[in-house]
Amino acid sequence: MAASEPTPTAFAKGLAGVVAGQTAICSLSGTLRYRGYDIEPLARAGDFEEVAFLLLHGELPTAAERDGLQRRIAAAAAHLPSAVLDALERLAVTEPHAAPMDALRTGVSMLGLVERDDTPGPAAALVAQAERLIGQVAALLAAWIDMTSGRPVAAWPDAPLAAALLERLTGRPPTAAEAAIFGTTLVLYAEHEFNASTFAARTVVSTGSDMHSAITAAIGTLKGPLHGGANEKVLEVLGEIGSADRARPWVEEQFAAKRVVMGFGHRVYKDGDVRAKLLGEMCRAMVSGTQADGLEALAAEVEAIMLERKALKPNLDWPAARVYHALGLPVKVFTPIFVVARMSGWTAHVIEQIGDNRLIRPLSVYSGPAPRDYPPLASRSSGF
Ligand code: COA
Repeated sequence: MAASEPTPTAFAKGLAGVVAGQTAICSLSGTLRYRGYDIEPLARAGDFEEVAFLLLHGELPTAAERDGLQRRIAAAAAHLPSAVLDALERLAVTEPHAAPMDALRTGVSMLGLVERDDTPGPAAALVAQAERLIGQVAALLAAWIDMTSGRPVAAWPDAPLAAALLERLTGRPPTAAEAAIFGTTLVLYAEHEFNASTFAARTVVSTGSDMHSAITAAIGTLKGPLHGGANEKVLEVLGEIGSADRARPWVEEQFAAKRVVMGFGHRVYKDGDVRAKLLGEMCRAMVSGTQADGLEALAAEVEAIMLERKALKPNLDWPAARVYHALGLPVKVFTPIFVVARMSGWTAHVIEQIGDNRLIRPLSVYSGPAPRDYPPLASRSSGF
């Protein structure tokens, strides 16, 4: 800004409502669309490779193109660099209780080091790097869980990513129905415009930094409970409430303490998250008549109270946590699964940002002390 321009005095806290750029990858107006395609048929198909191809290449794949991507992702998952695996193995021995999100963030950073990722390459090389990262991060997650459970790291299954990852995390091949709904969650988690972690990734590469640095920052950003970390908190919340009859006093207690209820509300969707509606229906159909039905009754009660008391509707994390629980997945892998899926969206945004870059550098309104004189060290007394 030139010195003669006025100092800014207004700002939007949390950048709420601020348009910070443009993207051809995803739109949220009306409904959620990936590159122009409505989310509903994509989610119902539940084919993660199809969606990852669409996000990274710009168009839906042919059958051969889709299978090619499946092979490339699986090959990357099957061949993690040994230097990274060895380092994680040592960390798993000394830090067995570290969060898998921290292991993923560290693992991606190490991948950047061994791959000597220091400059953005041509677009085709970036797309290849992105495809590799999807497989690698899925395999890193499964390897970390094996290592911290005292098991040898198992081989990567020759299957679509959804079925392969589910098998690696549960220890058994999934049924077709299980793989399908898990695939749907990956499709729904794949991309969401300028959310906090994607914006973090774009900010990193806007400085001319590399893909792995951007993704490392994105994983750290996703970890927070107001963003991706919410899906793990949702299951903790449901466990804490315990039964439908305790829902109302529990919710009232949260409001009285000015605590947010995890899995509800959204910065952009103020009239409900289309993803939550879609997955919520699928979740209820999946668990109907099973043991998990009790949790659905509790979830429905909380939803009704949140709507009645605050007009707040669930976001995607609300049903996703219940689906993952019903699939027998441990809570600690919920947010890491989000990482695997969102890797496709993050990397698509990184490539888009690099392709038409300008340094991301907003302004702030200064709210500190008025200008004052610098006192010499010897003349200062403690202000505390
Ligand atoms: N539980 C209780 N109250 C909530 C709430 C929730 N989950 N989400 C929003 N509110 C309240 C806010 O406290 C605010 O109340 P106030 O007007 O009395 O201050 C009001 O609803 C409006 O919220 P808003 O400012 O529009 O929210 P935001 O856009 O700043 O925040 C989230 C969006 C997602 C961070 C917020 O809804 C939240 O913390 N949700 C829980 C965490 C979560 O599920 N995250 C995953 C998001 S996909």
